[in-house]
Amino acid sequence: MANILCIGAGHVGGPTMAVIAKNCPQHRVVVVDINEDRIAAWQSDRLPIYEPGLDEIVRHTRTENLFFSTEIDHHIAEADIIFVSVNTPTKTFGRGAGKAADLQYWEKTARQILENSTSPKIVIEKSTLPVRTAEAMERILDSNNKGLNFDVVSNPEFLAEGTAIRDMQDPDRVLIGGRETPSGRKAVQAIVDIYAQWIPRERIVTTNLWSSELSKLVANAFLAQRISSINSISALCERTEADVSEVAHAIGMDSRIGPHFLRASVGFGGSCFKKDILNLVYLCEHYGLHEVAAYWNQVVAMNEYQQARFVSNMVLSMFNTVAGKRIALLGAAFKANTNDTRESPALNICRALLEERAEVVISDPYALDNARTDLRDAANQVTFEPDPYTAAEGAHALAILTEWPRFTELDYKAIYESMIKPAFIFDGRNILDHRSLHAIGFNVYAIGRPPLTNFVANETHPNF
Ligand SMILES: NC(=O)c1ccc[n+]([C@@H]2O[C@H](COP(=O)([O-])OP(=O)(O)OC[C@H]3O[C@@H](n4cnc5c(N)ncnc54)[C@H](O)[C@@H]3O)[C@@H](O)[C@H]2O)c1
Repeated sequence: MANILCIGAGHVGGPTMAVIAKNCPQHRVVVVDINEDRIAAWQSDRLPIYEPGLDEIVRHTRTENLFFSTEIDHHIAEADIIFVSVNTPTKTFGRGAGKAADLQYWEKTARQILENSTSPKIVIEKSTLPVRTAEAMERILDSNNKGLNFDVVSNPEFLAEGTAIRDMQDPDRVLIGGRETPSGRKAVQAIVDIYAQWIPRERIVTTNLWSSELSKLVANAFLAQRISSINSISALCERTEADVSEVAHAIGMDSRIGPHFLRASVGFGGSCFKKDILNLVYLCEHYGLHEVAAYWNQVVAMNEYQQARFVSNMVLSMFNTVAGKRIALLGAAFKANTNDTRESPALNICRALLEERAEVVISDPYALDNARTDLRDAANQVTFEPDPYTAAEGAHALAILTEWPRFTELDYKAIYESMIKPAFIFDGRNILDHRSLHAIGFNVYAIGRPPLTNFVANETHPNF
């Protein structure tokens, strides 16, 4: 039996430890956090994170071998293996502001582990970090005068929010990087043994520390790059009457390209893609690789352009003004099946519409609490409405900003009846049946497709 500790009970720490606890009943797994409310929520019936399948696993393991606590020092002392899964956001101050990773939480944790350890430990980087952070961790831990040995291992997390449990339970691969020393190899093997309880050995990849750290940043950069690439093409489709879905399908059938991450939309969000690319950009600049930095920076720039373009298309189509118009946004989460709104395109679009003085109402099945917190500075300009039908009532326009499947099942005829005419739909996720919406009477604007409008033919405006 090993005592496994995870520091950081967030979107990664909570779900990953729940899955480890479920698959390794012989181990005791404790998750700690400085945030008392979060820990209380993990101990309650209303978990702080929405992930399909998570409730069931936590309910089951919490009575067996999974524990949540705020007693960090005590649990560090007891642990054999410590996963560190604290947040590593983009730095907002000083050197590298806006690009570099803010490692203050990470370093605090390293020092706290050092202070409270009385036995050797394996310390695992679960957070996403700049390459060679493990070296800094080692230097802090090795500064102890207690004669203790610490092995630092990199085990980046590739789960995607919304499918976290499935991704953890059945991952494409697990990556574990360590030092090429006898002690380092032993530490890597100990972590391999944990995952090998439920993951086939050939899917557990071991590398050196730096390859493992870098692979996480590169994986996110490549995924985001595909989204920006297809979004750049969506802009061209809108000018040329090509259909981006058809283009994506045609190119995705090429086995060298593959079909994933080719859906044009209002862009990527979430806490990781932008932060990790900027981190990569900063690293490249640090090493004097300015052309490489500029290349990756463009992936983020294209994402911002796509959102700005969506908003200006809305304003342009609605006769060049949305001031005073009620606009219902369906979706606040950065993607479906999560309540996470960090870096959500929906909230960026909301803010841009508020600048245009629109009256915005947001509806989302799970993410309204987070959206309310994120938009607290605009609290009296936005309405939060769980029911999409009520949100749409009296609206000039509806914009689909999160691909929740339930938004495809709404009664759009009833919604149309309740809206101001001419009624507009902007499908920022291309999930609706545009032809039938058009037949109902909507003016339909999608991403990377010609608009379907019900205006008479003698229009002079190029967008109508
Ligand atoms: N969210 C994702 O989908 C995802 C996927 C892969 C990797 N990651 C990476 O994993 C890391 C964690 O991400 P997250 O989304 O879980 O973040 P999160 O903000 O949801 O959770 C981080 C938690 O760490 C806690 N924390 C901070 N400092 C602490 C300390 N000193 N002691 C104890 N707890 C502390 C915070 O209170 C918070 O609850 C990040 O580096 C992120 O880049 C995230």
